Amino acid sequence: MKIEGSIALVTGANRGLGKALVSALVEAGAAKVYAAARDERKLSADSSRVVPLALDTTKPEQIAAAVRKANDVTLLINNAGALTSYDVLATSQADFDADFRTNVHGTLAVIKAFLPVLERAPGGATIVNVLSLTSLASFPALGGYSASKAAAYSVTQALRPQLKAKHIDLLAVLPGPIDTRPLEQEPQGIRARFRELLTREGRGGQESSGTDEFWPPRRFHK
Ligand SMILES: NC(=O)c1ccc[n+]([C@@H]2O[C@H](COP(=O)([O-])OP(=O)(O)OC[C@H]3O[C@@H](n4cnc5c(N)ncnc54)[C@H](OP(=O)(O)O)[C@@H]3O)[C@@H](O)[C@H]2O)c1
Repeated sequence: MKIEGSIALVTGANRGLGKALVSALVEAGAAKVYAAARDERKLSADSSRVVPLALDTTKPEQIAAAVRKANDVTLLINNAGALTSYDVLATSQADFDADFRTNVHGTLAVIKAFLPVLERAPGGATIVNVLSLTSLASFPALGGYSASKAAAYSVTQALRPQLKAKHIDLLAVLPGPIDTRPLEQEPQGIRARFRELLTREGRGGQESSGTDEFWPPRRFHK
């Protein structure tokens, strides 16, 4: 994947990882970065190469408008992600659906809509889907979210060979915990749940500065 000279689009760019990705892309020499967010007013453009874009990935009309405006994208980063569903027994159907709507259907809808643009990219294009380590193994305290990220990973695997034939690389990123808003969301207490899980697993429940000791819990290694 070549970032220098690329024309990137990052969804969910107003905060967290998406915001950091926009800065990193500018720093790495992207020619233009479309910073897409549900609420454009929350975007801060620190560079003239950053172009704000309104995009709720669950709204087909907004996706179509984004494709018309950003019709030169060569690097699409599907970073937007929802975390509204937790324990699968306790979570409501509405919250379960909300995570699937953004994490699975929204991601796929954005990819499908941008395909004609990406296919035109000189020298090929790249799509990056920001998934999660929970795509590979459910974290029960985030059971609904984990299921949506697993489904998104499956969709990614299904798409990869089809897109390869169109000279589009599709990469999956599977991060462990990142210190962004979802992990700050007490009273949901996700940090506390991670610690509790790790303590139960006999690993001390202490966060480390790296994710390797902290995640995945030991049983996921089996
Ligand atoms: N933080 C972690 O520990 C972690 C671990 C693994 C993977 N991830 C993944 O990394 C990505 C970024 O997460 P983050 O940690 O930066 O979380 P975050 O701070 O909650 O950011 C999520 C971003 O996604 C946007 N978003 C949510 N639903 C959207 C929709 N329907 N349309 C457009 N934008 C939408 C949010 O916009 P609003 O501001 O409008 O809500 C926000 O900008 C997500 O895909 C997440 O699942 C995070």
